Amino acid sequence: MIQEAAERVLDHLEGVPDGPAANLDGAHEKAAELREPLPEEPTAYDDLLDTLFEEAIVHSSTNVHPGYMAYTPGGGLFHAALADFVADATNRYVGTWFAAPALVALETNVVNWFCEIMGYPDESFGLLTSGGSMANLVATITARRERLDDDFLDGIIYTSDQSHHSVSKATVLAGFPPENVRSIETDERFRMDVDALESAIEEDRDAGKDPSSSSGPRARRTRARWTTSRPSRTSVTERTSGFTPTVPTAGSSR
Ligand SMILES: Cc1ncc(COP(=O)(O)O)c(C=O)c1O
Repeated sequence: MIQEAAERVLDHLEGVPDGPAANLDGAHEKAAELREPLPEEPTAYDDLLDTLFEEAIVHSSTNVHPGYMAYTPGGGLFHAALADFVADATNRYVGTWFAAPALVALETNVVNWFCEIMGYPDESFGLLTSGGSMANLVATITARRERLDDDFLDGIIYTSDQSHHSVSKATVLAGFPPENVRSIETDERFRMDVDALESAIEEDRDAGKDPSSSSGPRARRTRARWTTSRPSRTSVTERTSGFTPTVPTAGSSR
């Protein structure tokens, strides 16, 4: 089975450079065609591979194609695919230390390397997530717990109009009302407009949304900058001294 799947994958990858960067013509019709009720009978392995490689995979964008320039999903490293295969096939439980300490140690190495690359201090730590959506959710909840107390509904989140939709989704999942999210405009280089950010913060303060200046001992304000579609960096901390530090996330560009 491994051999057959590997042959299909290798054939597919060999054909990528000469194929289209995306082939979405007729993809909706194909999707409708492939919907099926719960099967009562088994399907032959070959037939499943045919469906995958000859009908489903061909009707999609080819993120690994050298000409594929849309969106940011990675090119899909072959080495990473092999690593996923080994991890899935050996299927060790790494959700807790005691069940697989050596494997957790390997994961900890990677997290520490990332911290080092980012220039974070020695006591930093983190976790690997399935992608940007989970990373943004974890970052939002971490910021909420770090900056706000349990009654966090006055907390305001500042993000840019270039942020990924998973940012607003994360804020909803983290329990913030949608009206607490400010989408700050960006400049001609798609960086968050810091003057607009300052105005939004002042406006919120004037509207009594910042209890730190009147009733609360803690700054009840969460601030983050996110940019997705285009590379940009906004130096928020330099420009807005006196406010809480920014919360870098998977969505923010360096
Ligand atoms: C900057 C950014 N944030 C978040 C996401 C969402 O990640 P996920 O694929 O986990 O939904 C993406 C996805 O491409 C992204 O580019």
